[in-house]
Amino acid sequence: MNAINDFDDALSTIACHAGSLQSAEFENSDPIFVTSSFSFENAAQAAARFSGNEPGNVYSRFTNPTVRTFEQRLAALEGGECAVGTASGMSAIMTLCLGVLAAGDHVVCSYSVFGSTINLFKNILANFSIEFTFVDLIDLEAWKGAVRPNTKLFFLETPSNPLTEVADIGALSALAHESDSLLVVDNCFCTPILQRPLSHGADIVIHSATKYLDGQGRCVGGAIVAPEAMVEEKLIPVMRSGGASMSPFNAWVFLKGLETLSIRIQQHCRAAGTVAAWLEEQDQIKRVYYPGLANHPQHDLASRQQNGYGGVVAFEVDGDRDRAWRVIDSLRLFSITGNLGDTRSIVTHPATTTHSRVSAEDRARSGIGDDLIRLSIGLEEPEDLLADLAQALSS
Ligand SMILES: Cc1ncc(COP(=O)(O)O)c(C=O)c1O
Repeated sequence: MNAINDFDDALSTIACHAGSLQSAEFENSDPIFVTSSFSFENAAQAAARFSGNEPGNVYSRFTNPTVRTFEQRLAALEGGECAVGTASGMSAIMTLCLGVLAAGDHVVCSYSVFGSTINLFKNILANFSIEFTFVDLIDLEAWKGAVRPNTKLFFLETPSNPLTEVADIGALSALAHESDSLLVVDNCFCTPILQRPLSHGADIVIHSATKYLDGQGRCVGGAIVAPEAMVEEKLIPVMRSGGASMSPFNAWVFLKGLETLSIRIQQHCRAAGTVAAWLEEQDQIKRVYYPGLANHPQHDLASRQQNGYGGVVAFEVDGDRDRAWRVIDSLRLFSITGNLGDTRSIVTHPATTTHSRVSAEDRARSGIGDDLIRLSIGLEEPEDLLADLAQALSS
């Protein structure tokens, strides 16, 4: 087990300050602009703002100062030009697809993505004549072989949910760019504290802010980090008319979450590393999935590409679904829920929850069996988590 603690201190400073606004009241914490619309000095100004001839806020579906602070802070953390806050992680993916794809375009996507992403692509966007090919995340030849003349986008998560497979972002970016395609990375598991996909050649970063960016399991939200021209020309028009906007209150929760992101992620990593190493030694467990383990197939790549290995650990129990459910039901400190990235540790049975709508065939292909359990390690004392796991495994 390698411990990597090479966290970038400058990111902590950006996380506390980027995009901050101060009103005439000189408050020290960012204000929340809870307003659906903005008023104008006169009718001419209203007309100028609506037409875009004069910059400024019009309506919170289009822009809101608190959402803008969150967007600027996240873009700065990811090293990107711009960000767009959205109502959820899924609406970030949908808004991006509606903005940059058209009927007849083709997308190559990893099998190892969140279940709802597969559903959105296969069962919803495919109805609008967008074509999808799914490939093995770590098989570069498969990505290459899937490219068609109409390919516009490569989509992946790394590390993947829930099996923590790690993709080579640099190699996939070179491949995507050979066919003039955009490389999109869902950076939910790492956050910019552990991995900045744009610095490895990705074009766009997706976030489910619901996870570590909030970090306390309070709000649903998402974001797209993208070049300014793409945001202006392709994404804002979809936001304005499609309306998958982030609420100002949620944006405030997320931007306050960003202020503590670095320190939280460091602790999630330390505790998850301890839990993964312990799980590996247990007889009742067949296999542990965590990129920090030396026997993880992409451990070296993860060590080069990431500043740490994250807070999610998955493992297979020695037994069937009933055995997995028994272990889950016996845990006391872990909440049984589909979320991750919370201060509270979470246990999930992916096959019957987060990935239950994925066909059994696709689940089998991506290695999500009935014996698989996913843990999101929270901020509790790691020894307490180990004691809880020990009693649950011996149940
Ligand atoms: C990797 C990943 N991407 C996207 C999403 C979707 O995010 P949201 O639930 O905020 O819509 C999730 C949700 O679990 C996720 O795990």
